[in-house]
Amino acid sequence: MSSVSSSLASTLKRLQNKVAIITGGASGIGASTARVFHGNGAKVVIADIQDNKGKSLAEELGPNASFIHCDVSNENDVRNLVDSTTAKQGKLDIMYNNAGILGSTMSSIPDKTKFEIDQVIGVNLVGSMFGAKHAARVMMSQRNGCILFTASVCTAISGLLASNAYVASKYGILGLTKNLAAELGPYGIRVNCVSPYAVATPMAAPDQSKASELEESWAKMSNLKGESLKAEGVANAALYLASDEANYVGRESGNFNRRSKRIGATTATLFHKNGAKVIIADIQDTKGEALANKLGEDACYIHCDVTKEDDIRNLTDAAIAKHGKLDIMYSNAGILDRPLSCIMDTPKSEIDQIIGINLEIRIVVSKYGVLGLTKNLAAELGQHGIRVNCISPYGVATPLIVPNEAEITSMEMSLAAMGNLKGEILKPEGVAQAALYLASDEANYVSGLNLVVDGGFSIS
Ligand SMILES: NC(=O)c1ccc[n+]([C@@H]2O[C@H](COP(=O)([O-])OP(=O)(O)OC[C@H]3O[C@@H](n4cnc5c(N)ncnc54)[C@H](O)[C@@H]3O)[C@@H](O)[C@H]2O)c1
Repeated sequence: MSSVSSSLASTLKRLQNKVAIITGGASGIGASTARVFHGNGAKVVIADIQDNKGKSLAEELGPNASFIHCDVSNENDVRNLVDSTTAKQGKLDIMYNNAGILGSTMSSIPDKTKFEIDQVIGVNLVGSMFGAKHAARVMMSQRNGCILFTASVCTAISGLLASNAYVASKYGILGLTKNLAAELGPYGIRVNCVSPYAVATPMAAPDQSKASELEESWAKMSNLKGESLKAEGVANAALYLASDEANYVGRESGNFNRRSKRIGATTATLFHKNGAKVIIADIQDTKGEALANKLGEDACYIHCDVTKEDDIRNLTDAAIAKHGKLDIMYSNAGILDRPLSCIMDTPKSEIDQIIGINLEIRIVVSKYGVLGLTKNLAAELGQHGIRVNCISPYGVATPLIVPNEAEITSMEMSLAAMGNLKGEILKPEGVAQAALYLASDEANYVSGLNLVVDGGFSIS
């Protein structure tokens, strides 16, 4: 993770006054998360069985950091952790259930002892469940909160070097995440997990003198070249998920004026606010030019019909001519066919038009195409150090789906009624924040991801 990666985090204080518990917070990913959360204004409680390491990290961080001894496989310890935190801080905003053990990677299933199975499942899965249980007890009465877990890339590639008990525990966490997102969403509690690739923490690299050697060999196996995953990369993903930026809608939603906004315009504004030089590309020249003028310096507008390759070539050439480089290409342009139209009523010309715009550069078929393209390109372009990701938003009341401004509120209410997460409405800002995270150096090891921003609507 480059040193730039935490620049945004350290200046914006994205967790100001939030109270966060991080289990397994004394080492590796947990320790890095404690640093990143603390640097972003959170009051952090480091919970671990490694007392010396945990205490010294809390001392190093200073005010707003404390250590509590907690064996996550012991429910009384977890109850005490949550109760003493809420007694002291008056609330609990973030519960990051991260503590984990690997177990033996050598023994195969016939050799697995009940002791080892119990141990790995007990810490990784049951421990995470205890954490979620006691956090939920507090968060349900608060009617908000964020529960996070660390699962693992082994939930995507189960054959990876991990033991069967470990993989089973991490799949369990994945199931728990989905189940709790549905169960706790009505209380405004968000539940997510992060699944990291290999990181040379003491767990994965017990001999730390060999950490860089291991990192190099893992980097060789991965599709994205020129980067290796550090604990801070996982901590930054947790930061994004824990922050209001990932709230399904920002807390600032109460201040929005009711004029409908667009995802692209909101993203351009947010990227610009975060220091990017933005080129707004659209076919709506008057609107695009007005936005570029409003943003002022470091923003310009270029007419571009994304169904025309020449327009795209001209767009990228103009970016290089003007700025000497192109760091982020956000292919966001899209159209919607007539809502509720049936496949049998859709003329070929309309199908061609929709796929032409949504897929060529970027309604169900076209978007699945985008997903396939994302995964394919992440593999192909990763070899050149290029990251490729997509965002899959739930319904946002932009002009695309609500052309009539008077109907925005009723559309938002009906969308919110269908979603699992209550108390929030998805606004263009929520999607723009997801794009900001993916485009920033904080996500410099995230590629091929379909970041679903849907308040748990699509839990499968
Ligand atoms: N390092 C990787 O390659 C990798 C990849 C994917 C997922 N993960 C997951 O990330 C999480 C953090 O692991 P890490 O890589 O930072 O390893 P780590 O060993 O550096 O940190 C794990 C921490 O958990 C603590 N812990 C272990 N048992 C505990 C218990 N019973 N109660 C409380 N704390 C306990 C340890 O003391 C340690 O501080 C784990 O859940 C792990 O499965 C790691």
